Amino acid sequence: MPRFSNHHPPSLSGTMSIGALLALALASPVLAGRNCQNLTIPVHVTAANTDLSGLPTPQTDVEFTDFFLSNLQHGRQPRDMPSPKTVDVTGDYKLAATYCEPSDGSPPKVLQILTHGIGFGRSYWDFAYNDYEYSYVNHALAHGYATLAWDRLGLGESSRLDPVKEVQLPLEVEALRELTRLIRAGSVDLKGTPANAGTKFDKIVHVGHSLGSSVVYALAAVDKTALDGIVLTGWSTVTDFMDEGFVGLHLEQAGPKGGHLADYAPGYVVVGDVTALHTDFFAPGAYDPAILEPAFAAGEPTTVGEIATGSYMANQKLEVTVPSLVITGQKDLIFCGTDCYGTNNASLHSLLELVNSSFPLAKPILPITVPGSGHGLNLDDNHEYTYGNISNFLMSNGLSP
Ligand SMILES: *[C@@H]1O[C@H](CO)[C@@H](O)[C@H](O)[C@H]1NC(C)=O
Ligand SMILES: *[C@@H]1O[C@H](CO)[C@@H](O)[C@H](O)[C@H]1NC(C)=O
Ligand SMILES: *[C@@H]1O[C@H](CO)[C@@H](O)[C@H](O)[C@H]1NC(C)=O
Ligand SMILES: *[C@@H]1O[C@H](CO)[C@@H](O)[C@H](O)[C@H]1NC(C)=O
Repeated sequence: MPRFSNHHPPSLSGTMSIGALLALALASPVLAGRNCQNLTIPVHVTAANTDLSGLPTPQTDVEFTDFFLSNLQHGRQPRDMPSPKTVDVTGDYKLAATYCEPSDGSPPKVLQILTHGIGFGRSYWDFAYNDYEYSYVNHALAHGYATLAWDRLGLGESSRLDPVKEVQLPLEVEALRELTRLIRAGSVDLKGTPANAGTKFDKIVHVGHSLGSSVVYALAAVDKTALDGIVLTGWSTVTDFMDEGFVGLHLEQAGPKGGHLADYAPGYVVVGDVTALHTDFFAPGAYDPAILEPAFAAGEPTTVGEIATGSYMANQKLEVTVPSLVITGQKDLIFCGTDCYGTNNASLHSLLELVNSSFPLAKPILPITVPGSGHGLNLDDNHEYTYGNISNFLMSNGLSP
């Protein structure tokens, strides 16, 4: 593995005209150099997971769908469900991550840790389609930030675990907390060279998407010192449409899908088909239809354990005082029921403003509704709007790189 690689240098043929070169340079400032490094970071983690020992792991699509239908009483305590007990889970795990920093300029003082949601792995933040047109990482690097995108514990190239008992939100939150602690202490060799071990940052901002935002929110609830800034994308505190969203995903066992999913055990489930991905992630008129197939092909699973614990800490009001941004597509199905402006309340502009009360001490708390966008903010036509709003927010609130 190379220590550093610009993994997508512009491929310029010798016949390209100066004008075309200039146009490319002007159109793509993000093609400025980047140093990226794939890492495997060992962590020791202990968490109080939910005791699902009474739940047999669904082995087939039929068994999974029955599990799913039996647990759709969102927001209501099912009559036959015992009050949840916790059980300690502990282990030594490996986290797969990609660290990037700009190859020019002074070393970044601010690191953004990027946590993906359901349906994707860490490539969501650095999506290769159309020569990385949609890369959030490139946007952050062009503004001088360093980024670390990780595969949530249990998924992608991170350690694979029991998808019912282990891969749950509490364990993922503790893994993110430990990762953050190690990086803050300078004990992670981010650049893959021992001489560079000890890279330290003044500030660490956590950026999430969807369930990844729920993980960041829960991290803020369990350890407010872990975050110097919070950016939750594709997220809200409204839970009314969550079941609709989950049903729309048409989840199926991952392993039988083959390809890069072949090694996933029963209990790891993926978005079932391109139509399901479309339904949950892309709003009409706001995306390139040709991105649906590559976005589906990049799919990574979720687990029975994540589905059962997705609302971990969601009812806690945060005590964080750090700048906090919530930015979600106006037409997000899962978090806004396809229209954040449909509030039925003349004094409430957008459903996203309901997040304010969960961040009573954050200075500031800013909810932004991205006009026309769906849930998959990084992959739609307005991604520059979203990215620009995120960097504006960070830079105007003391989190400049
Ligand atoms: C990191 O690994 C991914 C595969 O998971 C690969 O696509 C990418 O090119 C690698 N990046 C670097 C910088 O080696
Ligand atoms: C309408 O929204 C405002 C602002 O959030 C809130 O104070 C008020 O209670 C809401 N009214 C109703 C009827 O829900
Ligand atoms: C939420 O906070 C934003 C930014 O501070 C403010 O503009 C908006 O009016 C607030 N909304 C509610 C419902 O409190
Ligand atoms: C968000 O981006 C749009 C489009 O670039 C811009 O008009 C708007 O002012 C931005 N808002 C914030 C808060 O940065």
